[in-house]
Amino acid sequence: MKQWRCVVCNYLHSGEEPPERCPVCGAPANKFVAVTDVQPPASAVSREQDESAVANLAEVRERAQERLQGICGVYPACDGQPERICQREAYGMPIGMGGAGAGRSFAANYSALSGIRLRTRVVGEHFEPDTRLDCLDQRLSMPVLASSVAGPGRYGQDMGELEFCAATVQGCLQAGTLALRGDTAFYTPDEQFSLDAIEAAGGRGIPVFKPRAQDILLRLIERATQMGCPAVGIDLDGFGSTNMARAGQPVFRKSERELRQLVQATNLPFLCKGIMDVEDAAACLAAGARIIGVSNHGGRVLDNTPGVAEVLPEISAYVGDQALVTADGGVRTGYDVLIMLALGADAVLVGRDVVRAAIGGGAAGVHLHMEHLHTVLRRAMLMTGCPDLAAIGPHILHPA
Ligand SMILES: Cc1cc2nc3c(=O)[nH]c(=O)nc-3n(C[C@H](O)[C@H](O)[C@H](O)COP(=O)(O)O)c2cc1C
Repeated sequence: MKQWRCVVCNYLHSGEEPPERCPVCGAPANKFVAVTDVQPPASAVSREQDESAVANLAEVRERAQERLQGICGVYPACDGQPERICQREAYGMPIGMGGAGAGRSFAANYSALSGIRLRTRVVGEHFEPDTRLDCLDQRLSMPVLASSVAGPGRYGQDMGELEFCAATVQGCLQAGTLALRGDTAFYTPDEQFSLDAIEAAGGRGIPVFKPRAQDILLRLIERATQMGCPAVGIDLDGFGSTNMARAGQPVFRKSERELRQLVQATNLPFLCKGIMDVEDAAACLAAGARIIGVSNHGGRVLDNTPGVAEVLPEISAYVGDQALVTADGGVRTGYDVLIMLALGADAVLVGRDVVRAAIGGGAAGVHLHMEHLHTVLRRAMLMTGCPDLAAIGPHILHPA
């Protein structure tokens, strides 16, 4: 059997003829070239082989590139630009790893961080930066956690969703931190891959549910409470998901009253994720939320929003010490982490990079990725004169 590669998005098609149109990017048949040698690349490794064999991030990246063909290009810069293969909503394709619409919110997350400059400080006593964060009754090795994602188990050619969830949870624990876990249209009230993976890890993970009907959420929160998770929450902005409604699992906007009912149903700290506006933060605090997740869902629910780094200072200043503030969106390096902390986040979440690490290297890939962020964060703190997290603030940034 022949194989054909789409020159636009790298999608591989098996058959005697190329397809009429690429099912991923919509390119016509003349954009397909025959692949003459279909030997698997030397780096192709089956899942049966121990993922802990991944030696370094370059290897994880290479494997992710093979396994995510047509979904994510694993580009050196994951910046949401229109020519990226993930931006295929423009062709009426599912959102995959991309952003909504033209990807402007996704791109804004990245460019907002790119536009901020760190102040180099080199004179002073030497120190070893202390990155530890005490929060949610845990001591984390660093203020970086995996963000809540769900669904990528369906992208990796041979990785199931439960395996994907377990890779993020275990990889984070190995790095001394925690994973948030998501919820999506092929999860049901009775089949919750995220909760299963967290349960297998003794409750050490933070489940974040879609804003489903209240009675379903109350059941799910009850299970998280029984497991004694460090926190539980919902992605308030997840009601934008058309997938959920199509799968017969409707999602809704939540009122302050409904939020209060959820908060009061558990003794776990409650996270409200998807906050981009001070008034929404105020309503969540009034409902009793203990964690405010500043996020635009990686630019996946509404196009043309500002980048998270642009709205973070105002929201963080409003929240003050009333709640923990997390921020996610466009964080790719330890320098980005430091900038988010300087802008007012207490902890920073990483989305797409953790997906790629898990698909490319399982728990070992996630561990390697988190360790790399940790190493660079330490270096960035040293170079900006911050011995510990309390020393980080807007003074380490150059004025805009
Ligand atoms: C493939 C994918 C699936 C996601 N699924 C969820 C989810 O189930 N729940 C949720 O709260 N956020 C979800 N998100 C959003 C992430 O939690 C996070 O807000 C975003 O990815 C951060 O931006 P970054 O990818 O640029 O780091 C998802 C993101 C991606 C890319």
